[in-house]
Amino acid sequence: MTEKRLWWKHGIIYQIYPRSFQDTNGDGIGDLAGVIQHLDYIQDLGVDAIWLSPINPSPDVDFGYDVADYHTIDPKFGNLQDFERLTQEAHKRNLHIIMDLVLSHSSDQHRWFQEAQKSVDNPYHNWYIWRDPAPDGGVPNNWMAMFGGSAWEYVEHLNKYYYHMFTKGQPDLNWHNPEVRSTMLDVFRYWLDKGVDGFRLDVFNNYFQDQQFRDNPPEAGFSLRKLVRKFEAQKHIYDTNQPEMIEVVEDIRSIMDCYPERYVVGETFLASSAQARTFIGPNRLHAGFDYGFCNAPFSAQAYGQAIQYWDALHGKDAWPNYFFNNHDTPRSTSRFARGDSDAIPKLLLTMQLTVRGTPYLYYGEEIGIRDISLPRSLIQDPVGKQYWPFNKGRDGCRSPMQWSARENAGFTSGEPWLPVNKDYRVRNVEAQAASPASLLAFYKELIAIRRAHPALNAGALELISTDDDDLLIYQRQEGDEKILVVLNFSRQITTCQLPIENFNKWELLYAGNEAITSQMTENDLNLPAYGFAILISRSE
Ligand code: GLC
Ligand code: CA
Repeated sequence: MTEKRLWWKHGIIYQIYPRSFQDTNGDGIGDLAGVIQHLDYIQDLGVDAIWLSPINPSPDVDFGYDVADYHTIDPKFGNLQDFERLTQEAHKRNLHIIMDLVLSHSSDQHRWFQEAQKSVDNPYHNWYIWRDPAPDGGVPNNWMAMFGGSAWEYVEHLNKYYYHMFTKGQPDLNWHNPEVRSTMLDVFRYWLDKGVDGFRLDVFNNYFQDQQFRDNPPEAGFSLRKLVRKFEAQKHIYDTNQPEMIEVVEDIRSIMDCYPERYVVGETFLASSAQARTFIGPNRLHAGFDYGFCNAPFSAQAYGQAIQYWDALHGKDAWPNYFFNNHDTPRSTSRFARGDSDAIPKLLLTMQLTVRGTPYLYYGEEIGIRDISLPRSLIQDPVGKQYWPFNKGRDGCRSPMQWSARENAGFTSGEPWLPVNKDYRVRNVEAQAASPASLLAFYKELIAIRRAHPALNAGALELISTDDDDLLIYQRQEGDEKILVVLNFSRQITTCQLPIENFNKWELLYAGNEAITSQMTENDLNLPAYGFAILISRSE
């Protein structure tokens, strides 16, 4: 490889939702000791980094995304020593640690907010966003909360409203206040000094709001979705994506660059891909999240377009990310897989691991966990509580990791905070580790192939047009290594005419771990339903 191998760029990032990974003390909630216990497992997968969803103290109105103290660890997960041990043990295994920083808002239980609401003269008052009531006593403007209702919450003894983009337990911090800004930038240094390798910034493009607090204009057109969720009936031009953010991402990057090989990735929210791209670059964030790929319908053409668009948008001085799963989205197995078959998950992973960009995996996808479905009484997520039954929230994709066929899938000896998927006796790590034909074995093989081939983890990508709408074909190239990827999105067996010259110089590198019907005769490749082939040519 011409360029030095960078863990966050050429490697793979594995997201853990700590509450659901491994409980070690029987309280039904996963903890840091549980993550430490499985570091060998994670290393063995072949990934390079772990992104931990938030582990700072939190009253869990939004399960960690409401932080009550930025400088320590929530006791339900452990303590600072546990975190330091986790970081050291991870580093011993060449695993990097990415923390989730939730700096757009804090918890209303944070000491700063507790102070802020005491009086307008309190030194912390201006750490949050306060406005007088409208002349009629109502809310200051039409901004809505993503998680339901107005974004303004009235505090009677102050006769003022405070602003919250999410629940009222998540008041937005006032980033226009220089004290807030410098305190927040110190949070980066604090964790970097503790050996953290990177950060994922929660909804960072919401740090600033319009200073004139202008009303958002309506989004044209009627839909049931907009009726149920008024937040979606507005164009979010004044409550997000303000120009001030560019300077802050530059400040963040200059802090990161004081430490070797660190990484910061931002979750953009309510931004177009093009807007999201403006925050990324050599002096800005290393990378961003875009839902274009994750949300694309299951079709060769839709993925082809998403890849081409995202690849071109990033160009040479930025690097894309690709994910299908995280803690906010129904699992791709539940969206796309048919019954218990792993054929579609394998096809999707092959695409994700062979396009140009960093793949993000989400705990449990390597064994094909499906979403759980809960009755209303068991819903935990504020989104599900608010919008049931139109939107049942995000609990479905947060169910406990399925380690073994033992009770509660080996996740806890107590009562799990969310039910374990009922299929755990069949679908679990222990069973799949023992089977060379398992999805887990497939993940490991493909990850190893990606790691071994610079064309796959670093090379340029070129989409290759085909007459068959169900096929997605692209070539990756780095130096003299060329790799061709052919993916069949149909449930029919397909014969593909390979777009290659010097056919004899190509060989089949990988086509999965099942008996495949893939046969190459002359330039023809036969692919099974949802089958794929990775071909390699080194000699040109
Ligand atoms: C991000 C998180 C999500 C959280 C929200 C508010 O979108 O991924 O889980 O609810 O921000 O912090
Ligand atoms: Ca626990």
